[in-house]
Amino acid sequence: MLKIRVLVSGGGTNLQAIIDAIENGKITNTQICLVASNKKNAYALERAANKGIKNIALSKKDFESAEKWEEKLIEEIDASGAELVVLAGFLRVLSEKFTKHYPDKIINIHPSLIPSFCGPGYYGLKVHEEALKKGVKVTGATVHFVNEEVDGGRIIAQKAVYVQDGDTPEVLQRRVMEQAEWIILPQVIDDIANNRL
Ligand code: GRF
Repeated sequence: MLKIRVLVSGGGTNLQAIIDAIENGKITNTQICLVASNKKNAYALERAANKGIKNIALSKKDFESAEKWEEKLIEEIDASGAELVVLAGFLRVLSEKFTKHYPDKIINIHPSLIPSFCGPGYYGLKVHEEALKKGVKVTGATVHFVNEEVDGGRIIAQKAVYVQDGDTPEVLQRRVMEQAEWIILPQVIDDIANNRL
């Protein structure tokens, strides 16, 4: 049984996709043992609570430093006894100390086809604004291993999504979530849980 902990910051639609995929059998051999958010009011925490999944909020401002905040997060994650950390809409950059603590054990979903529209400052709606500004015809999502370089780890899976005339950043973001993110993130977790990766 692959035990995973999911780090979130916001709405948690990627977390919901994982929860649903476990329930409908698209993900097997997997249990979410902890959901941790760096935002106390993240709706993702409610999604976890609705399913009786242990969830915690660790707000950085409750700690005297970012290092202390990360130490507590590592302590909570290790106490949860899980083997894979999934960043699902998690919007904090993790330090090298953190990423080296979990070598090749952290995966992230990024809402573009890396190496396009990624790196520091490229998250959420901004990614889609830049894609529309550049006029790309195809965008999509990427699941990759997390290392100390923002969005720099080894690419695991990608799924392309067509940009349509008249797309706004919000409409494009939704399409990328529905047609790419919510499909490839559960697929990668299932592959890892069943030793296909
Ligand atoms: C989405 O844009 C996703 O691509 C990125 O974070 C945003 C919110 O995701 N990873 P979620 O709804 O909180 O899962």
